[in-house]
Amino acid sequence: MPSLNLRPASADDYRRIAERRLPRVFFDYIDGGAGAEQSLRDNVADFARLKLKQRVMRDVSALNPKIDLFGETWSMPLALAPIGMGGMMRKRAEIQAVKAADAAGVPFCLSTVAICSLEEVAKAAARPFWFQLYMLKDRGAVRELLQRAKSVGVRTLLFTVDLAVVGARYRDIRNGLSGGGGLYGKLRSGIIDYFLHPAWLVDVGVGGRPHVFGNLSAYVPKATTPTDFRAWVDGQFDASVTWKDIEALRKEWSGNLVIKGVLTPEDARAAADAGADGVVVSNHGGRQLDGVASGLAALPLIADALRGRAKILVDGGVRTGQDVLRARAAGADAALIGRPWIFAVAAEGEAGLKRYLSLVMHDFRVAMALTGVSAASEIDGRLLDHP
Ligand SMILES: Cc1cc2nc3c(=O)[nH]c(=O)nc-3n(C[C@H](O)[C@H](O)[C@H](O)COP(=O)(O)O)c2cc1C
Repeated sequence: MPSLNLRPASADDYRRIAERRLPRVFFDYIDGGAGAEQSLRDNVADFARLKLKQRVMRDVSALNPKIDLFGETWSMPLALAPIGMGGMMRKRAEIQAVKAADAAGVPFCLSTVAICSLEEVAKAAARPFWFQLYMLKDRGAVRELLQRAKSVGVRTLLFTVDLAVVGARYRDIRNGLSGGGGLYGKLRSGIIDYFLHPAWLVDVGVGGRPHVFGNLSAYVPKATTPTDFRAWVDGQFDASVTWKDIEALRKEWSGNLVIKGVLTPEDARAAADAGADGVVVSNHGGRQLDGVASGLAALPLIADALRGRAKILVDGGVRTGQDVLRARAAGADAALIGRPWIFAVAAEGEAGLKRYLSLVMHDFRVAMALTGVSAASEIDGRLLDHP
């Protein structure tokens, strides 16, 4: 394990620092996946397995890592995925994240179940951010959230479709975070663990106001603790949703509509048929159905099926700039990162995420240069070294 006196150089370094700083219940909430965590492991392993072709002598003295997507220019093909309850890991984590993302020139996506609200994030954001929404049983709340997102300037909506029911996350069950326990974990061991993490306790527990889910407080007026919010949200996931609901949503939302959580060509085609501008090929970071393929493994068939009808994002296991290049080479327009950004914020706040994103940018530029491409738009399947 690298000494904590050294400067972090990778996603894994930030993960280790976050592990020391966070109470176990919160570290496990981020780090864990569903079931035996096979899909979670596959997400990272599949990226590592994808070999790149080194090319030399191609004049890579001027590199352009930028792309244009959804009406925006991105400094590299990477965005920050929606992460629920971020503000429990660091004081107002979503604000720190949107500032770091803006400084790095990449999109930030706010979760429905974030601690900071759309309105609070909008005040801190320097450029339009994205919003992620679930289909809640309370369709009035869904309509109002869409309206609120629009009025604070959100132009891209990630609509998550892989949460008809919540995956069985064993670490959360063990820690008392799900399966009937309180959100602060098993009371006795949980509270002791908080006091063993005083930096977190002072920053978040005392100063962070982590007990309100900002986007939802208007719809759950009686909720006063995270457990109340979690109970409401768990009861709100709508297992009856079909593509018909997406067609209806398409009529209500005039901005970019991106369907998050497809893994098969059939579902990707159905999303495009329902009017989506893009899809996120994703297994929800291995947190939903353990045993499904990684987003990366599912990507080629989906790219084939869509043939440019909708933009393609991929997530699950993206950790480095090489992975960003691999994602594009395998058929995606861009990649999302989840755990790495929340670990960087949990570890060192806005400065940590800024630094992590600059490391990814550096890696991405190195990967471009050594695979012999000068522009991100030139990255394609020819960069992969198929055995
Ligand atoms: C702690 C945590 C919370 C998450 N919360 C949400 C959420 O609120 N909405 C959503 O659509 N996806 C959520 N996801 C899934 C991420 O958006 C993303 O798909 C996944 O983290 C990508 O995998 P990676 O963590 O390996 O990068 C969450 C993931 C994690 C790890």
